[in-house]
Order: sequence, then C-alpha cells, then structure tokens
Amino acid sequence: MNFSFKSHSWIGILGLLTIACTGCGGGANASATSAPDAEPGVPYKKFSDAVHAVMMADRTVYASKVVTRLKKQEAPVEPSEYWEEEEHTIPLPAQMFRMGSELVFENPEAGFTYALKSKWPLNEQNKPKSELEVTALDFLAENPTENFYGEEELGGKKYFVAAYSDKAVAEACWSCHNDHPNRGDDYPEFAKDDVMGGVIVRVPID
Ligand code: HEC
Repeated sequence: MNFSFKSHSWIGILGLLTIACTGCGGGANASATSAPDAEPGVPYKKFSDAVHAVMMADRTVYASKVVTRLKKQEAPVEPSEYWEEEEHTIPLPAQMFRMGSELVFENPEAGFTYALKSKWPLNEQNKPKSELEVTALDFLAENPTENFYGEEELGGKKYFVAAYSDKAVAEACWSCHNDHPNRGDDYPEFAKDDVMGGVIVRVPID
C-alpha cells in the first residue's frame, strides 16, 4: 500500500543519514574551526532533527500499523513487555526503540547515538546519565513544543546533544505507565499531552 515506506527500510534510511553525517561539521558549531573550503557536511542540528524524524516515524508505524492492527484482528500474538519469556508475543514499541538504539550504539560506523529517556524511567537503563541530559529533560518538561540543543564534554570528548519531547499522545501511554509495577514513589500521574520523557541524540563533534 505504502510503497515509499516499504522501499526505504529503517536501517536503510539511518544508514543514508549516517553516511551523510560523515562530514558533519559544516554547521554553525564548526564554523570557527573549519577551513573556509572544507567539504560541506550536514550541520549537527539538521542531522539530529533528521534522524529523530526517522526514529519517530518508525515507532509510530510500528505502534499504529503493527501493534494496533494485531489487536484489531484479534491475532493470536500480542505485544508484551515480557516477550522474551512469553510465547506468542512481540516487543512493545519502546522496547523496539531501545533495541534499535543499542544496535546503533554498538556500530562504530554509525557516528552518533540515541536513546529514549525519562527522569521517571520504567526501565532503569532509560534514566538520564549526564548533567546535560537532566537539563534537557527539565527543559522539555517546561517547554513541550520546543527542542533542546546543547554541547557537553564527556571523557575529554565534545558532543552535540539534541533532545525532543516524548508526549502522552494516546490513552495507552499513560494508562500503561501509570499502572506499571516498576513505577517509583515519585512517579507522576501522567495525563494527556504530558511530557513523559525525551529522545536524546548525541553526535561527537569532530
Ligand atoms: C503496554 C505498556 C506501554 C505503553 C502502551 C507505552 N509504554 Fe512507554 N514504556 C513501557 C515500558 C515497559 C518501557 C521500558 C522499555 C524498555 O525496556 O526500555 C517504556 C519506556 C518509555 C519511555 C522511556 C523511559 C522509561 O519509562 O523507561 C518513555 C519516554 C515512554 N515509554 C513513553 C511512552 C509514550 C509517549 C507512550 C505512548 C505513545 C508509551 N510510552 C506507551 C511501557 C509502555
């Protein structure tokens, strides 16, 4: 039905964008250090916005076209957080997202990393791990319609960091999270349109 989506696999699109970023540094951040005739690359912000768009498109398509479709068909397969232990189950969209991000993390060619994080994570792995990540998540909570962009130094290396709010867009979001056994004592009572966390994209600055 949707040929344009079919012909561009997830890995394919990320791959293309990753190659495009090999020359990252043509942007405002690098203007002070790049020679005037340096090969133009994709600016960090543009690159981050682009990979984020692909990630979100992919998560939305999985949630709406796979998970919801199975439910509608009353298929003998259902999404479950415990898909590894349970028969006839498939991973949740957030788990798909994290597993994809782990593959990119392990890929030395990727040239960037990303993760879906929250100050109130159901999975401890998704909590902010640097000061800037905390700042970014606080900023998104207060400015849900804006993105966050900044720079940080980790282990002597500089990184460009972009963060995008992840909002409670469907009833399933807050009902599953609010009732989850992993919720901590300070867990908020999420409601429609609340910022539940953020996608963080990190690109090393050459
Ligand atoms: C059926 C339950 C369920 C639904 C529905 C659900 N989530 Fe989650 N969500 C989870 C679980 C479980 C995790 C942890 C996944 C992992 O292992 O990384 C998670 C992870 C997250 C995270 C990362 C921080 C954390 O809690 O670990 C965010 C942000 C998030 N979900 C937002 C959303 C949004 C927004 C929606 C709706 C579009 C949504 N979730 C729908 C169960 C759910």
